[in-house]
Amino acid sequence: MKWHNKVTSLLNITYPVVQAPMLGITTPEMVAAVSEAGGLGSLPVGGLSADQTRELVRAVKALTSKPFAVNLFAHSIPSSIDTAAFTAMQQFLTTFAAANDITYVPPVQEMLRFHTYHDQIDILLSEQIPSVSFTFGIPEDEYIAALKNRGARLIGTATCVEEALLLDNKFVDVITAQGAEAGGHRGTFITEGTPPMIGTMSLVPQIVDATRRPVLAAGGIADGSTMMAAMMLGAQGVQVGSAFLVSNESSAPNAHKHRIQNASASDAVLTKNFSGRWARGIENKLMRAISESGLTTLPYPYQQSLTASIRSFAQQKDLTDFTTMWAGQSASKAVRKPAAAIFRTLIDQAQTSFEQIERHVQVKD
Ligand SMILES: Cc1cc2nc3c(=O)[nH]c(=O)nc-3n(C[C@H](O)[C@H](O)[C@H](O)COP(=O)(O)O)c2cc1C
Repeated sequence: MKWHNKVTSLLNITYPVVQAPMLGITTPEMVAAVSEAGGLGSLPVGGLSADQTRELVRAVKALTSKPFAVNLFAHSIPSSIDTAAFTAMQQFLTTFAAANDITYVPPVQEMLRFHTYHDQIDILLSEQIPSVSFTFGIPEDEYIAALKNRGARLIGTATCVEEALLLDNKFVDVITAQGAEAGGHRGTFITEGTPPMIGTMSLVPQIVDATRRPVLAAGGIADGSTMMAAMMLGAQGVQVGSAFLVSNESSAPNAHKHRIQNASASDAVLTKNFSGRWARGIENKLMRAISESGLTTLPYPYQQSLTASIRSFAQQKDLTDFTTMWAGQSASKAVRKPAAAIFRTLIDQAQTSFEQIERHVQVKD
């Protein structure tokens, strides 16, 4: 099977497979392993400072000279928030933490400062990053122009046709169609309400038909057959996240890895309780408690800051009940292996699936 297509040529890779950026999970080692294997590793830096971004980029560069992507969050920070809602959530989390023997350091609203992609673009330009992907929105025109002038390929995330058309009109090079099955945050940016929840099987062909850009399918791509199915729908590549969640290079705590491998598809639910943005992850005690409190979650990234100290405590203690366990609906298919071996298996299985389809078509003829 020949793998060369628009995606491989634009992104300068051998196989049309992008390892999804997964903030808090993806390490420079994971990025380098996938890029070295012929795919596109993606380094997530959403919300990090310029210094942290530079350090991580250089860590990847020290491990590979192959192309890789850096992934940004292209959202804007709300100019004001409901202070009463902030205080109510903080009080609830303080009580919850005490009842569960968790050390909670509540953030002080006035002291909160957030990094945005504006702080990171200069690093990406000076480090000459080959591909830049983004989610939660579209960077402003001047930033798109600056990245393009430096030769960076741009990959935008869409969760519906309307978003894909906005990306297309900004001349991004590749569009990631993020289906409802996907783990982690929804990339939705046309609404702050309930996000479109269109399955990958419906979304991919709709975006392929509506836009002029090659499409990556994301959400539920867990093996060779799901990858080939996405390609049959018109995708020219896939972006795979959950399949790398329990890889050797994943920084997920051990209990988190174990929980993911034993999850059923319906355990991975949609919530905005942890961060204030809708995301898919395995349901747990903190997620349920915030829902049952009846309190209003704060907009991203304020809610994220409010839960940060509990999540970090839980991660250090390897507790699954009090932290995010972002995972897609096919996450339980993930296997504990080096990322390069996971990648290779995906390609080999896709090749086999392709041959099976060919044989099936011949038999039917
Ligand atoms: C743990 C986790 C963290 C994620 N973090 C990011 C991120 O930082 N940036 C991003 O664009 N997408 C992020 N995503 C979404 C992925 O890019 C992708 O859409 C998703 O993993 C695809 O679905 P799958 O998990 O079924 O493979 C994350 C997904 C997971 C599972």
